[in-house]
Amino acid sequence: MDRRVLVTGASGFIGRRLVVALAARGVPVRCLVRSPVQFPVPVEIVQGDLLEPLTLQPALAGVDTVYYLVHSMAGGRTEFERRDREAAENLRRAAEQAGVRRVIYLGGLGETGAGLSGHLASRLEVASILKQGSYATTFLRAAIIYGAGGASFEMIRALVLHLPVMITPRWVSTRCQPIAVGDVIRYLVGCFFEEATAGETFDIGGPEILSYREMMERFAALAGRRLAIVPVPVLTPRLSSYWVGLITPVKPSIAIPLIEGLASEVICRENRIRELIPFPLTPFNEAVMQALEEEKTLQKS
Ligand SMILES: NC(=O)c1ccc[n+]([C@@H]2O[C@H](COP(=O)([O-])OP(=O)(O)OC[C@H]3O[C@@H](n4cnc5c(N)ncnc54)[C@H](OP(=O)(O)O)[C@@H]3O)[C@@H](O)[C@H]2O)c1
Repeated sequence: MDRRVLVTGASGFIGRRLVVALAARGVPVRCLVRSPVQFPVPVEIVQGDLLEPLTLQPALAGVDTVYYLVHSMAGGRTEFERRDREAAENLRRAAEQAGVRRVIYLGGLGETGAGLSGHLASRLEVASILKQGSYATTFLRAAIIYGAGGASFEMIRALVLHLPVMITPRWVSTRCQPIAVGDVIRYLVGCFFEEATAGETFDIGGPEILSYREMMERFAALAGRRLAIVPVPVLTPRLSSYWVGLITPVKPSIAIPLIEGLASEVICRENRIRELIPFPLTPFNEAVMQALEEEKTLQKS
């Protein structure tokens, strides 16, 4: 295998898992990290920052495919869209100069339009910047990803485990198509090996479409908790983001943009990827149980 891969966001929720999965398939992996990180597999590590273009050329030397798994919300709520725009533009320019052949980007599901939250709109903007490059971009669009340490998953987990009664805005009836993190990793790895995915955009989702209310009720039942959800019309997503921020361990700069996105329906519009990368998708209940188990293991280690 001589196709070297650069994983940006390698220290993140998705990136860490992808690095391990690619290495297990014999792919030579280079990880771009801003601060030192250890991985449980032998990989090359390069320190760099997408907002510092000079650090990108050494990271991209000899690279065939770049995974783009970065967002800037942890850096604060103000101007995360500008930082994400700049990071994507820097990567596009540096990848073109380095002669990169493919970029694979995991972003968010959500229709374009005025109602879209700042976070979802920014994820789409990053896709359109990356797609302008001279390489072939694959854009995977996902809704909530279930797995230990995922920001959306951790928010739902904290709400369900800490609040027996939840006063919520109408977003609880918004529909979503969550997906297990293991299935996302299979798609990301699959895209690397399946050339027919180059230059294409795919929606990826789990096997069930659920409202946020159904998701939280099922989660509570699986975790052995009682949960009463009381939707009220006056609570706006912005207001609810403040109390959700108080309960969850997720940084407010990440939690608030994510909650603002809950008003948008996030459901796959098409399933073409199922034919190119076929495997049985993980049912929602199993994804929750796997994530809760994984969390216990992480807490012990
Ligand atoms: N989690 C979900 O439920 C979900 C759902 C749908 C789509 N996605 C998409 O999946 C992708 C990965 O998300 P995630 O959940 O893995 O996020 P995450 O855990 O918050 O990781 C974000 C990564 O971006 C890196 N990063 C941020 N700014 C950077 C910069 N300037 N230069 C280099 N690296 C930088 C971070 O590095 P540091 O460790 O240095 O901060 C971190 O590794 C994103 O595109 C996101 O939109 C996630």
